[in-house]
Amino acid sequence: MSKVEELARLKQEMEEDTSLPLRTNETRLVFGEGNPDAELYFIGEGPGFNENLQGRPFVGQAGKLLNRTLETIGLKREDVYISNVVRFRPPGNRDPEPHEIAAFQPYVDREIEIINPPVIVTLGRFSMGKFLPGERISQIHGKPYELKWNGKDVTIVPMYHPAAALRAGAVMQQFVEDFKKLPQILEKIKEKNQPKPEQMGLV
Ligand code: URA
Repeated sequence: MSKVEELARLKQEMEEDTSLPLRTNETRLVFGEGNPDAELYFIGEGPGFNENLQGRPFVGQAGKLLNRTLETIGLKREDVYISNVVRFRPPGNRDPEPHEIAAFQPYVDREIEIINPPVIVTLGRFSMGKFLPGERISQIHGKPYELKWNGKDVTIVPMYHPAAALRAGAVMQQFVEDFKKLPQILEKIKEKNQPKPEQMGLV
């Protein structure tokens, strides 16, 4: 099965899973979207008003900022994959609760396994908490953390949420600066993963 087919199947399973929290008559599933072979997997918090309306992640003001900031490093939204820790809009845009995040976790993990990105960029504290529990975003934003996730090497880059950047100029500056580090982080990973001359039978 191709990645596209695997993702479609995963989405279908979520549509049919009536045990998932936050599913109401007013909410619709907002699955991840983007390049299934992306090197950068962005994960936010949960759908807001516009995302719920369109059934797509990060399409409101925060999403527009995300798109614009991606362009500053030469990337289009279609080049990366964009997702959320919870996939139905919490009422009134409240914070997702721990039990809600936990309920979506198996699906999020399967999505990550399918995409298999070398770099996961967490947007805001809820997705950061999934990979780097107990950390403070103000202390660690923009720093790459290498860890094993479900047996695979992955680099986590925690970042501020774009909605927080829209609320405060100082956070916006950090958000934009942190993005500029991504090309170099990706380059380093590629260098590290390049086969050594002896592995290529050249020595
Ligand atoms: N904020 C998020 O965390 N996710 C979205 O999809 C939109 C806004």
